[in-house]
Amino acid sequence: EKGNYPFYMIKEIEEQPKAVWACLNVYTKNDLVDFEAIGLTKEYLSSLDNIYILGCGSAYNVGKVSECIIEELTNCQVRVELASEFKYRNYKLNKNSLAIIISQSGETKDSYEALLKCKNEGIKTLSIVNVKGSVIPRNSDYHIYTYAGPEIAVATTKAYSSQLLVMYLFSLALAEAKGDITLEDEKKYIKELKSLPEKMEHILSDKASVQKLANHFVSKKDVFFIGREMDYAISEEGSLKFKEVTYIHSEAKPSGELKHGTLSLITDGVPVIAIATQNELLEKSISNMEEVKSRGASVIALTMEGADVSKSSKYQIYIPKTNKLFTASLAIIYLQLLAYYVSIAKGINPDQPRNLAKSVTVE
Ligand code: M6R
Repeated sequence: EKGNYPFYMIKEIEEQPKAVWACLNVYTKNDLVDFEAIGLTKEYLSSLDNIYILGCGSAYNVGKVSECIIEELTNCQVRVELASEFKYRNYKLNKNSLAIIISQSGETKDSYEALLKCKNEGIKTLSIVNVKGSVIPRNSDYHIYTYAGPEIAVATTKAYSSQLLVMYLFSLALAEAKGDITLEDEKKYIKELKSLPEKMEHILSDKASVQKLANHFVSKKDVFFIGREMDYAISEEGSLKFKEVTYIHSEAKPSGELKHGTLSLITDGVPVIAIATQNELLEKSISNMEEVKSRGASVIALTMEGADVSKSSKYQIYIPKTNKLFTASLAIIYLQLLAYYVSIAKGINPDQPRNLAKSVTVE
């Protein structure tokens, strides 16, 4: 039930701190990851050198964020593929791998078929799913439920956040099992994760400023999202959410690719949302903001508290400080809110975007 909310999408956006708590409660014990009930033992995790992550849409975007984290924390090889492509490709799969299939519904046909392909090749599978008892977890070697609660709006919000959380925990458990981080490090990371719900609440208390910013987009034809590395992965999810519920063309590009083509589309007044949550990349990101600003773009910078982006952008949005591995969880809330308020300002029903279904059970 929607209760007092006008739409499920905003209700589900607001439920994210609770959804993150639910995962932390179920899958951590004494500030350490606890996957005992899942059957993922330390011994098994320590034997892994290769991870595939498969999914569609936002689930794939979770994979792209996770890839950066696993690469940062471990020496494992990670490969993230769209399930719809994976099933047709002739990949030379590494048998000693774990394939992680991410799906809110647990019913997406392409993701299910990607799972079957892995099984046929003798590769172990782990699914991360929200809907209990659905076909994907029923057919996986291991499954982790995300406990986000029912998600009704077509545009995923809280399921995305829960999937991210589970992938953070998986990455930490993997890194610890492989001896790449210590138990003490793991505890520090988990403590930081426990501070996310409060930081999410802080962002949610700032809805009015996002609503105001949304007016700026209503008459636009195109919107661009740019970022590097993890910030690019966040851009992809921000852009998907935006196009899904606003019907405005939006595109995410790695900042370094602008010069290779997209810059020709940057003209006077074109909005460019520049994601810059990674401090090490800040200087580079600022120079990309300047690159598009000098072509007339209206730059909206989404960065972390403490970063000075005021000279290179027209509007600034700041997420509360957190570890660089976890910025996606905070940045995405602003981007979901932005998509939602532009949708509302245009008179669109964000819960049921045209032509889209919640669960895609056909190819
Ligand atoms: O149920 P699934 O997670 O497998 O669905 C995958 C995509 O269809 C889904 O994430 C889609 O991209 C969303 N509508 C995005 O908001």
